[in-house]
Amino acid sequence: MRRRYVVGNWKMNKTPYEAQLFVEELFSVEGGLPEDVELGIAPPYPALDRVGATVGPSLVHLLAQDVYQEVSGPHTGEVSAEMLKACGVTQVIVGHSERRRYRNEHEIDLTRKIERLAEAYITPLYCVGETLGEREAGTTERALSKQMSALEAFPEAAPRGLVLAYEPVWAIGTGRSATPAMAADVHRALREMVRSFWGKEAAEKIRILYGGSVTPENAAALFEEEDIDGALVGGASLKVASFLAIARAARRTVPD
Ligand code: PGA
Repeated sequence: MRRRYVVGNWKMNKTPYEAQLFVEELFSVEGGLPEDVELGIAPPYPALDRVGATVGPSLVHLLAQDVYQEVSGPHTGEVSAEMLKACGVTQVIVGHSERRRYRNEHEIDLTRKIERLAEAYITPLYCVGETLGEREAGTTERALSKQMSALEAFPEAAPRGLVLAYEPVWAIGTGRSATPAMAADVHRALREMVRSFWGKEAAEKIRILYGGSVTPENAAALFEEEDIDGALVGGASLKVASFLAIARAARRTVPD
């Protein structure tokens, strides 16, 4: 059975100090962290080193929100996979819709980012999702398969540990989450694409997270869907209480 995974994408929020306070609070919650759910947090770059020193290996994954597609050199303002690794980063979000939209990132760039991550043994968390216009025009699947084409550069096998996140653009930060049935339909379609790329075993193994206005209130219903393997959480991940409530809702076992 796929282990559920809940990741907090903090976006451009929290100083290193605030990030450290969050992690300390998270580790000291009464009753501890849910044991059968993996957790991850994606602080902004300046907080990575400090958070990395606090989370240590394995307990909570440390993610970066982006990486640059070159190894090193004259790229002012950019950060490489090796630099992230040195801060304790084990996974990186690639292809978030805010970067596709506001930073003009296309599949060709995203493939190169995933290649740099693979070289540094870092796992990509690859995001896909349709816009409202695409959903209304009935072209959701076409939009997703174009985004998934960034992975065609890996014909032999999926990039190590690859995690997918389905994040409909119209649901991000809008308070309007996809319904569980809507999300589950897309997750099944994505799993089918993974099967066509890398076979049945890879499709059964890959974790597909849902993202877009996930809250403690709607998380349990989303997690009732077998094909939803966790969540990529923005706004509700900024406070320990709401992040943890979502993580607890992700447990496959019935809480006692
Ligand atoms: P949201 O963001 O939970 O605030 O909608 C999700 C995301 O962008 O990953």
